[in-house]
Amino acid sequence: MMEGQQRPTPGGALPPHPTLERYYGRDDERPRFVRRLFDSAARDYDRIEGPMALGWGRRYRSEALRRAGLSPGMKVLDVAIGTGLVAREAAQLAGDGKVVGLDPSFGMLLEACRQLGVAGVLGLGEQLPIRDCGFDFLSMGYALRHLGDLTAAFREFFRVLRPGGTVCVLELTRPTNRFGAGLIRFYLRRVVPAFTRLRTRNVDAELLMRYFWDTIENCVSPASILQALDTAGFIDVQRVLSIGLFSEYTGRKPGAGDGSSRPGRREGGGNFFVRTIAR
Ligand SMILES: C[S@@+](CC[C@H](N)C(=O)[O-])C[C@H]1O[C@@H](n2cnc3c(N)ncnc32)[C@H](O)[C@@H]1O
Repeated sequence: MMEGQQRPTPGGALPPHPTLERYYGRDDERPRFVRRLFDSAARDYDRIEGPMALGWGRRYRSEALRRAGLSPGMKVLDVAIGTGLVAREAAQLAGDGKVVGLDPSFGMLLEACRQLGVAGVLGLGEQLPIRDCGFDFLSMGYALRHLGDLTAAFREFFRVLRPGGTVCVLELTRPTNRFGAGLIRFYLRRVVPAFTRLRTRNVDAELLMRYFWDTIENCVSPASILQALDTAGFIDVQRVLSIGLFSEYTGRKPGAGDGSSRPGRREGGGNFFVRTIAR
């Protein structure tokens, strides 16, 4: 099945991509496969991610959070904290002690807590072990493709945000033009895994990088992701696309004063570097 063809199941579940049998046999084996890869790659993750993002990752994460409205004093839940690359920027913007991180991989969570000293929670994005309405802002960086069900996860994100709170999901999107897609495919499918092998000698880190591209290539369409946020109850749902590759999906939980009718979304606009795409 090609990118974008995944549809919600009759029960409403929306897996981010079809079963990738070459990595794991059945869908119910995927969480264990993903957790094992991240546990094993945790100690090498930052050494790979920096060069992979060509040194742009940190600044981009910070700009994306700022664009989504993260500001001082907000209480943030960073889902899929990994080694803390989004959480670090969130803490810079929101302030110390304001960020809680969640991840199902003990190895990744340990790295984040060790490096940043943030509070960590072991858990899945689809079943947050967190009380209702406790956060002003929820971020998730580069983990959408690892969730089992976007519908369940977005419903959980909605539940733990306070009324008026913001969700911001960062994800890579396969470029729509053939040249860009071919270039990124070559880079992420060939160059990055080879570089990872040489740099880390960690076969799981190399496998993770191969898996990385295959999940991007087979990921559901941006329109399906926006629709799933909408269905979860978010308003002002939109995507900001940078250099045709980096997507920021944002939405807001309705708050007092929003009434029953949904306010109009911001119109699409911008340029090749940063473009807003309204649903
Ligand atoms: C590519 S890392 C991203 C880490 C970090 N957010 C960043 O920006 O670099 C993806 C993370 O998603 C986590 N993850 C995998 N499945 C998940 C799930 N179902 N719910 C939440 N996090 C998950 C992995 O353990 C891993 O730490």
